[in-house]
Amino acid sequence: MSTHKQLVLSGMQPTNTLHLGNYLGALKNWVRMQNEMPCLFCVVDMHAITQDVGYGRRKELTDATREVAAAYIAAGVDPERTPIFNQAQVPEHAELAWIFNCVARLGWLDRMTQFKEKSGKHKERASVGLYTYPVLMAADILVYKATHVPVGEDQKQHLELSRDIAQKFNNDFQAPDFFPLPEPVITGPATRVMSLRDGTKKMSKSDESDYSRINLTDDADAIAQKIRKAKTDPDPLPDAKKGLEGRPEAENLINIYAALSDQSVDATVAQFAGQQFSGFKNALADLAVARLTPIAAEMRRLLADPGEIDRVLKSGADRARALAAPVMAEVKKLVGFIA
Ligand code: AMP
Ligand code: TRP
Repeated sequence: MSTHKQLVLSGMQPTNTLHLGNYLGALKNWVRMQNEMPCLFCVVDMHAITQDVGYGRRKELTDATREVAAAYIAAGVDPERTPIFNQAQVPEHAELAWIFNCVARLGWLDRMTQFKEKSGKHKERASVGLYTYPVLMAADILVYKATHVPVGEDQKQHLELSRDIAQKFNNDFQAPDFFPLPEPVITGPATRVMSLRDGTKKMSKSDESDYSRINLTDDADAIAQKIRKAKTDPDPLPDAKKGLEGRPEAENLINIYAALSDQSVDATVAQFAGQQFSGFKNALADLAVARLTPIAAEMRRLLADPGEIDRVLKSGADRARALAAPVMAEVKKLVGFIA
């Protein structure tokens, strides 16, 4: 039986603007989890430099870091209760990641599907950081001995790697139960939000078509337009969940509606049973506008005062460091470093 105190940690990369997948797959669950256990939410700026880094990206990275922090707060994370910080301000993440680089095996990383997707045809041109990205993610979680990690479906494999690293560290250093084996929390009807242009592809920041995704910063017109233009099939909506099988676009839109309205997929299917897409899309557009535009407005308000966001990040980092430093001190002792 594990003796670890329950603690939530999660993070998002400051690359481009956040979209509906980030909100429904992760952020919306974070807000709810604040009422269940203590949480820490990180803007993973060190992960964001694994694909694109340099002078030309400097301002974009800084701006995007503030924007992601603003999105956390605007969506309902309370920075008084829950530390919000950027990873680079807590050096213990990188310190533990190095030790984990020496615990994790090449064979484990070779299996990571996200590296294969992101590095594409020319693996030899990818940064070493991109390859070891999931090791840094394990350090983000375990430097606080966090037990619960709310993420979208696509992060499942990375979390399994975090568990493997925790277990091997505990074994190698004969420190049973030193690190908890962190649990993924992948919940809700929209753990994998799909592209609005193609129901078989994940909604993603990197899709070249802006019509494939709803950005958290889109205005009401853009949201409604994108939903109206979303790909569908010619049939009316089914009257039971089973009828969504083999209809990825219909399933995606129904899941989005269910998640935004906090009701089950079954209830949503029942509500629109037998209706044409046109009527359903109008209802979905109204709902999405009602739920998302207040977040965008609050983000704009917060971003008008970047100094205040920086103060939130600094205060969050100070509180996070106070938790990470004693864990790191124990780790160094276990490894045999003179510290
Ligand atoms: P990233 O933007 O890659 O840093 O992802 C931040 C969080 O959003 C992670 O928890 C992802 O699993 C989640 N996420 C990203 N894209 C989607 C999607 N299309 N559907 C559901 N969750 C997603
Ligand atoms: N890899 C995650 C993503 O792309 C981001 C991330 C980095 C993360 N460190 C984390 C998520 C720690 C949860 C916990 O979505």
